[in-house]
Amino acid sequence: MSVPVVRTVAELRYAVAAWRAERLQVALVPTMGALHEGHLSLVRAALSRAERVIVTIFVNPKQFNSPADLAAYPRTEETDAAMLAGAGAHLLYAPLAGEIYPEGFSTTVSVASVSEEMEGRFRPGHFDGVATVVAKLFLQSGADCAFFGEKDFQQLQVVRRMARDLDIPVEIVACPTIRERNGLAMSSRNARLSPQEHARAPRLSEVLFEAAAKMASGADAQPVLAQARRALEDAGFGPVEYLELRSSASLAPLTRASEPARLLAAAWLGQVRLIDNVEVAENDP
Ligand code: PAF
Repeated sequence: MSVPVVRTVAELRYAVAAWRAERLQVALVPTMGALHEGHLSLVRAALSRAERVIVTIFVNPKQFNSPADLAAYPRTEETDAAMLAGAGAHLLYAPLAGEIYPEGFSTTVSVASVSEEMEGRFRPGHFDGVATVVAKLFLQSGADCAFFGEKDFQQLQVVRRMARDLDIPVEIVACPTIRERNGLAMSSRNARLSPQEHARAPRLSEVLFEAAAKMASGADAQPVLAQARRALEDAGFGPVEYLELRSSASLAPLTRASEPARLLAAAWLGQVRLIDNVEVAENDP
């Protein structure tokens, strides 16, 4: 069995209209391809919620900070399509760049506040690119619900805010980060780690989980974060771009886990930039 592939908005809307005529619920799983178990977990969650699941693959040039990073991004559509067929997705929407950004395209969706720090600080313009393409995918598909991984926790908050602010009638569903057995968060970028780096990379999640446990038992964030940063540097990460305790709801900085919180980090390992985040249980004595 293969998954049908469409490349234009017109074909996508035609397929969705036929499902709507049968009163079927439609879910969307936006991706940039190079699929792994993390993406498949989103597809499975979508299948459990809606009768029809569309997966999109579009390597969005507007969210890359450097042309080299865009060029190096893996493109594996054939393998991806086979994985999606195996997972039971109903449609693959893989538009060409001109379909998403036609000649003269001039609109940017920019989400203030939740976009500005952490990833937004180190990747200027990244979230404008994400918000713009995701808004387009929502409007093109008219999906009832859309599935995003908590691995990109800040992206999730940006997408939620954007959909709410623009009154796009789509339910945003967050799915837990899928990790390798050694704890490393799954990411298409992991393929770019050397075998030695790959062996060292799980230290990122270990350090985050250790720090989160300390904060959940009441420790102040500042000394725990300083110690965690040193542990990452000792393990060969650098630069550690950010390592922060933030409110899960608003992403506002916290000095301790006085409300549901998230510990988020971005750090380089060799030539690869890794991000990860973990939940910190609320400690409000
Ligand atoms: O998380 C991603 O893969 C991308 O940022 C997304 C949401 C598909 C938008 O291009």
